[in-house]
Amino acid sequence: MIKVNFENIAKNKRINFKSYSKTVKSIHEMIHNKTGLGKEFLGWLDYPINYDKEELKRIIKKSNEFKKKYDTLVVCGIGGSYLGARAAIEAINGLYPQKSMQIVYFGNTLDPDYSVQILNYLENRNFAVCVISKSGTTTETAIGFRLLKNLLEKKFGKEESKNRIVSITNKIGGALKTLSDKEGYETYILPDDIGGRFSVMSPVGLFPIACAGIDVQQMLEGFKEARKEYDNPDLSTNEAYKYACQRNFLYKKGYASEMMVTYSLNNKMLIEWWKQLFDESEGKNGEALLCAGATFTTDLHSMGQFIQDGKKVLFETILNIKKPNNDLEIKADKDDLDGLNYLKGKKLSYINNKAYNGTLEAHSKTGKVPNIVIEIEKMDAKSIGHIFYFFMISCAMSAYLLNLNPFNQPGVEIYKKNMFHLLGKNGY
Ligand code: PA5
Repeated sequence: MIKVNFENIAKNKRINFKSYSKTVKSIHEMIHNKTGLGKEFLGWLDYPINYDKEELKRIIKKSNEFKKKYDTLVVCGIGGSYLGARAAIEAINGLYPQKSMQIVYFGNTLDPDYSVQILNYLENRNFAVCVISKSGTTTETAIGFRLLKNLLEKKFGKEESKNRIVSITNKIGGALKTLSDKEGYETYILPDDIGGRFSVMSPVGLFPIACAGIDVQQMLEGFKEARKEYDNPDLSTNEAYKYACQRNFLYKKGYASEMMVTYSLNNKMLIEWWKQLFDESEGKNGEALLCAGATFTTDLHSMGQFIQDGKKVLFETILNIKKPNNDLEIKADKDDLDGLNYLKGKKLSYINNKAYNGTLEAHSKTGKVPNIVIEIEKMDAKSIGHIFYFFMISCAMSAYLLNLNPFNQPGVEIYKKNMFHLLGKNGY
């Protein structure tokens, strides 16, 4: 399903598998025996096997009901509580899907302009809400949900609103759990041993993705398939570990940033999910690569100049999805005033692919920017499950190679404390 190639990296910057193999073997055992830093957050490893089967049935039933009754689902969550779902939905359904329920994202910002615009838009939609917060106390999500709840109650009345709300949160504790129990919302649980950015294969991702009409059982299959495929420490065959080691090697060689590149606008949010996964897992103790993202060819007209000719601070990792789900052909034009007839009969995918080959050569050979290429056969429900596991396990390996705990995020709390103090919240 996934192959990683390092052919577009200068020989002296390519990893030597032998030098990593002993360390990788011991980290692999540490992950699977759950003995490393943050070991209490490794629930995602086995979740697609151990998951609550009854809960999945409820998720599928409820999502079918939502799809039938409502035209729009508002996913209210931030960070790990929405990025994975959005990544999968956009990667598979695209940005303007015509068949599925419309999915709108809220509770992921404090921006008043966006918030007012979405609420105005929802005034004329027959919408339902899925509120997601593991802690149940995240400010952006809590404010977003209060606004949505008020609108629902104004439009549909208090009792009807309860049928239109699903909540996903932890088992005990947070304000969202208390509120959900009190109001009697349909609720799914994010287990304590799974952190937000590793939660896409739990109800956090499964419910919104199912509402978007994507086969979540196939997605779980893809995750399981990958789990089996990468369950060995052999660096000559384990593509996920190869990727982790190569990025570690480039970091050690002095590169400051990894830029993940896609040639499909639909995968922009997949890169956002990947950025959170790696930046929040590794950006600690003054360490780690800064994860950046770009969409080509669009961004070749903006960041392309820097990548080609600017300071050599970054390397690129290309997500090369080999087969698009849709395609079209350039037709001949009798006047050819735009001079494009030389492309007549060519598919857009062919042209995109030539742009990819031309850029790869320009950046890696002429510009001397190392390029890791991750080749993925196609994008569908099963493959996105596989891709999620691939990056999660490589992220765990990558963070442990830096002796970091991949599963905490102590730095994120500092701005929150300052903000609460400035807002006058009790106890701050
Ligand atoms: O990965 C993480 O832990 C974070 O990004 C959280 O998912 C994010 O901060 C939202 O937290 P919560 O789900 O508790 O609202």
